[in-house]
Amino acid sequence: MRIGLLGFGTVGRGVYELISQRTDMKVKWVLCRRELTLRDTKVTHDFQDILKDDTIDTVIEVMGGLHPAYDYVRQAILAGKNVVTANKAMVAAFYDQLLPLAEEKDVLFRCTASVGGGIGWLSELERVRRIETVSRVGGIMNGTCNYILDHMTRRGLSYGDALRQAQELGYAEADPSSDVDGIDTWHKLVISANVAFGVSLNREQIPVAGIRHIAAEDVARFTARGLTCKLIATAKNQGGSFSAYVQPTLYPAGEPEAAVPANFNLITLEGNTSGRQSFFGQGAGRYPTAYNVVQDCVDLIGGTGFYGPWGQKVSLTNEETYSYYVRGDTDSWLEANTKELWDGAVITKPVSVTNLHTWLREHPCTFAAAMPKA
Ligand code: HSE
Repeated sequence: MRIGLLGFGTVGRGVYELISQRTDMKVKWVLCRRELTLRDTKVTHDFQDILKDDTIDTVIEVMGGLHPAYDYVRQAILAGKNVVTANKAMVAAFYDQLLPLAEEKDVLFRCTASVGGGIGWLSELERVRRIETVSRVGGIMNGTCNYILDHMTRRGLSYGDALRQAQELGYAEADPSSDVDGIDTWHKLVISANVAFGVSLNREQIPVAGIRHIAAEDVARFTARGLTCKLIATAKNQGGSFSAYVQPTLYPAGEPEAAVPANFNLITLEGNTSGRQSFFGQGAGRYPTAYNVVQDCVDLIGGTGFYGPWGQKVSLTNEETYSYYVRGDTDSWLEANTKELWDGAVITKPVSVTNLHTWLREHPCTFAAAMPKA
């Protein structure tokens, strides 16, 4: 396999190092904005150098972002080159275009590292789907948020200090808003649900709430009651009725999610015969992510591509109800739906995901978390 590697940041450098140790694949070109010198590998600022090199059979895209990443990947597929990518924003946004195009052009496409970093989640989900109907996917999908929440809970760190540490360790996206506002988790949920259910979710209908406004006082209230806060993605297929949302969620001790430390992810599926299967591992970081990129390359050498089948666009109904912890703004809607107070914070009566997220969008500085189901 002769590779054009697009991007030489945290993940790109890890991919380069891992591939350098192998004899079945070689990075011939690296596309990189910075000045860089590599032994036995050409470095260019111009993607056309890679596109026009007929000896390159595979493009690995680890630049991140939508553009020009998507444009390069598209051109690579049109030129008959296989593609491996770790770019969840791009795959989530262009799933409907990329997979059919790859099939039409008879090239292989894989994106395992785009969800779960070093966990072989998408690869296994694809295998599960060969014989199972999957009714639920989701869980802890963002290493940065888990690191922040874990260090606030177990080490007593402030939100700001925990975020800074996660950034220093290379877990966070270039703009950490994508992590803490739940956008990165949203991308991963879209890809997972599309693969799990064989559909294309209407991603604009997915309500997303992040952890930006969590404070030490919230964590103290949760800890005093034996609860742990995690950022959770959920997608369900209940007999053809689809729901999907991202929100902070509280777990009692003893639930697997409550024990997930540091930057780890815990991603779960519910299959009709296998039941619950959970996948635990490092969801971010140079080498875990690079590991799954290289795994995809090995699969391509073996002729295995695609996550499919991809399907029709489906709309969401998010009428499931939760009680929520809410701290921040209040108004008549919240007062009418208050069940009890925790030192001034509201615990709501059961309200639908749609209603709570609609209210939250009008009160953007408020922190809310779903309570455990009774
Ligand atoms: N910023 C992401 C995370 C990187 O923290 O999980 C891996 O997708």
